[in-house]
Amino acid sequence: MSLPDGPTSPSFWQMFQWITMPFSFMRGCSRAYGDCFTVVLSQRVGPMALFSSPEALRIILTADDSELFEAPGELNEAFEPLLGAQSVIGLSGDRHRRMRQLLMPTLHGERMRSYGQLIQDITREVMSEWVAGKPFSVRKAMQKISMRVILRAVFGLSGGARYHQLESLLARVLDRMNNPFITSFIFFPMLRRDFGPLSPWGNFIRDRQQIDQLVYDEIAERQNRPDPGRNDILTLLMSARDESGEPLTKLELRDELMTLLVTGHETTATALTWALYWIHKLPRVREQLWNELQSLDGTLDPGVVARLPYLNAICSETLRIYPVGMLTFPRVTRSRLELTGSSLAPGTIVVGCIYLAHHREDVYPDPDEYRPERFLERRYTPFEYLPFGGGIRRCIGMAFAQLEMKLVISGILTGCELALAANRPVRPVRRGLTSGPSPFQMVMKERLAVH
Ligand code: HEM
Repeated sequence: MSLPDGPTSPSFWQMFQWITMPFSFMRGCSRAYGDCFTVVLSQRVGPMALFSSPEALRIILTADDSELFEAPGELNEAFEPLLGAQSVIGLSGDRHRRMRQLLMPTLHGERMRSYGQLIQDITREVMSEWVAGKPFSVRKAMQKISMRVILRAVFGLSGGARYHQLESLLARVLDRMNNPFITSFIFFPMLRRDFGPLSPWGNFIRDRQQIDQLVYDEIAERQNRPDPGRNDILTLLMSARDESGEPLTKLELRDELMTLLVTGHETTATALTWALYWIHKLPRVREQLWNELQSLDGTLDPGVVARLPYLNAICSETLRIYPVGMLTFPRVTRSRLELTGSSLAPGTIVVGCIYLAHHREDVYPDPDEYRPERFLERRYTPFEYLPFGGGIRRCIGMAFAQLEMKLVISGILTGCELALAANRPVRPVRRGLTSGPSPFQMVMKERLAVH
């Protein structure tokens, strides 16, 4: 036997369950088959072995660029229609390494300091649009914040026609991904056909053409009129050179910019939406966070906020209980490998199941309970807690997303008093390639004195 057991139902049925009810599909498989199991979501891709024990994840994620494993970008083809073939997500081997090296400095170190103020300003700007007593969609509000943050960080744009067009086009494309049936072309390439204005693929490619034009216009404008005073990510990428002194091509620039815009916006908006839900659903959580924020005496210095223990625990628990990325990207075995009882042949597709890893009773007692304190009581290893994946494909926006979550939450909690608009249950649902909460609204009860 070379693959772990798994459901024997036809692949279209497994895919249907994976698209429409991913969490119960994973839980059902884990109940029936244990820590690792094999699913077949499409005949074209073939079987994929999912692992969730810390022991297996340690082996996979510490050896995903070795003689044991590789992490081929070709398997991430679902992202290609939107992000393009040169996106870091779709690259492999040396090209993948080179692109990560170029992108990483734009989202780390010294750069992070300049993003803090930007995030706080945008949070205040979006909050100022809320009207007391009038319910609003939390997702839309959080998307507005994260979209503006990433647009300004990436392009350094803060107004003007191009900025507004990009904002609304990107929001439209990503919002359509909300509906798993409309975006079935992500999972089934044969549906990528243009049947005119009523077809999802047709609408998608027309929106994408407009987005591309705006991005290329911005690149051309920068090339024609370079401004040494700018320090946004596009400027950094245009002046970056790889080890052999080569700059990025126009196509590479476009694909990396789209990658940062899309991955950097949707995921963080989802995490923020969940966090606001939990904070306002559970009064003890809100109270404890409020007390921690009060201890700051009205100043929200980004460096200090980023180190607040309870706020950090809230962000961690939010990404544990329903991780936005339910799986890691796929890895493939390069040689025969014994992995926690399974003997895998070379060429086996292996995926880390983040959701199931975060719901292990032995690591997280009462795993379905939202309890930030667990992150104050103990430290988890990177193979027990991995909302940003690990190894050579670990999320490059991790530090950025964590900072954004903390600054937006602290800004909102100290800027106004919110409440859930209704007591309806909120469930995790699929959103395109990721997951997020079912829609809900909140209402601003009162605006608090500006700090
Ligand atoms: C809460 C927010 C976020 C979550 C939960 C998240 C989660 C993830 C996960 C699970 C992976 C796959 C890692 C693996 O396979 O080992 C990933 C990869 C990636 N993320 Fe994030 N992410 C978030 C925010 C961001 C942001 C803000 C950016 C950029 C501004 C970003 C850019 C990327 C990129 C480019 C990759 C692909 C890396 C590669 O292929 O080498 N993400 N992310």
